Amino acid sequence: MNALGNDSRYAGSLRSALAAKLVDTGAIRSRPVAAAVRSVPRHLFVPNVSLEIAYTDDVVLMKSDDAGTAISTVSQPTVVAMMLEQAGIAPGHRILEIGSGGYNAALMSELAGPGGAVTSIDIDAEVTSRARQALAGTGYQGVRVFQADGQFGWPEGAPYDLVLLTVTAEDIAPAWLDQLAEGGRLVVPLRLRGQTRSIAFDKVQGVLHGRSSVLCGFVSMQGAGTTDGQVVRLDGDKIVLTFDEDQVIDGGALQGILRQPPRLSWCGILIDREEPFSNLDLWLATRFPGYCVLSAHRSSIKSGLVSPVLQWGGAAVVEGGSLAYLTSRPSPAPHLIELGIIAHGPTAKRLADHLAGEITAWDQTHRHGPGPRFTVHPKTTPATDPPGRPDVTTRHTLVTVHWP
Ligand SMILES: C[S@@+](CC[C@H](N)C(=O)[O-])C[C@H]1O[C@@H](n2cnc3c(N)ncnc32)[C@H](O)[C@@H]1O
Repeated sequence: MNALGNDSRYAGSLRSALAAKLVDTGAIRSRPVAAAVRSVPRHLFVPNVSLEIAYTDDVVLMKSDDAGTAISTVSQPTVVAMMLEQAGIAPGHRILEIGSGGYNAALMSELAGPGGAVTSIDIDAEVTSRARQALAGTGYQGVRVFQADGQFGWPEGAPYDLVLLTVTAEDIAPAWLDQLAEGGRLVVPLRLRGQTRSIAFDKVQGVLHGRSSVLCGFVSMQGAGTTDGQVVRLDGDKIVLTFDEDQVIDGGALQGILRQPPRLSWCGILIDREEPFSNLDLWLATRFPGYCVLSAHRSSIKSGLVSPVLQWGGAAVVEGGSLAYLTSRPSPAPHLIELGIIAHGPTAKRLADHLAGEITAWDQTHRHGPGPRFTVHPKTTPATDPPGRPDVTTRHTLVTVHWP
């Protein structure tokens, strides 16, 4: 479908190899997504890198801010493919993409076909002009690209069958829900308690029901949807506890906490060094209102002030003036580690026991299960449909995490 004037046979073979790799890894699960990846010339959307890099399964940096933080990228093909599978695009779908670049919009245009419509918006005029140019140059001039803050969606094209974000959100903006058709799908990289998951939701009577979720990483949202995370700094700035906007914390009560004697306990739970425990972290995040992420500078770990479960830090919990966090030690089997808890403060023992109990509950009940499911109720949902106790409250929604 595209006009591949300057697409070489070599680019075509690299593209087929990339598609084959994504099928092998399971990122691509359907024929239409495979066909779209084989068809869209990614290298023409990333003219700043070589052909080989354009068809490597990696993110391509397009723009950084003054501090060197990435603010615009063309996303990693694995993540793009996984999100397209979550999106379930069918011919004729009307789609809004928030966060442009051109490549993903071209793929969606292939999937929605000539009867569909793709609108892509980005807050950055430089990005929209580059995306518009690349889309026109590759034959996807039907994709409409506008500069706008995605927080407000693009009402002119509503209702959409799909709203798909390619930028990290920490809330579900009312506009996305309003502009979705009943039964429509929202695919959004949603950051909750320090973890970002691309979640596919279906809109049913104003409520978003999660169908699937995968861990992912995207650049942060700019504009009106930016949220204010909270941090508590310990040991100078070398140890940072990160909380979300809705959590109530007393950072003052924690000053000097790490100088209080540590209380170390072991859970008797072994984990493979390769096993991701993001689900354990999310479980703990839903069990403890004072859940946070502890990040430590190498020097604080080397000095023995902290000994977190991962090289950079890990899950932690604050309760009153006490702090407990996950640690680990090697086990007799070299590929396994044992989980433990280090706690400080006046209620260290009680907090450590509570944490150990929740880690055991996760191990016995959820560790080998299908993983979390999410439901999102707008705060404006009528009282006749209460969500029960929400696990996370964002500016506009109540998020419930289910563990089937
Ligand atoms: C990962 S890039 C998009 C990748 C792109 N979809 C592709 O095809 O590879 C994320 C984009 O989100 C944009 N962005 C950040 N905040 C935004 C907002 N509030 N509204 C719209 N776009 C935003 C950034 O300017 C950036 O270009």
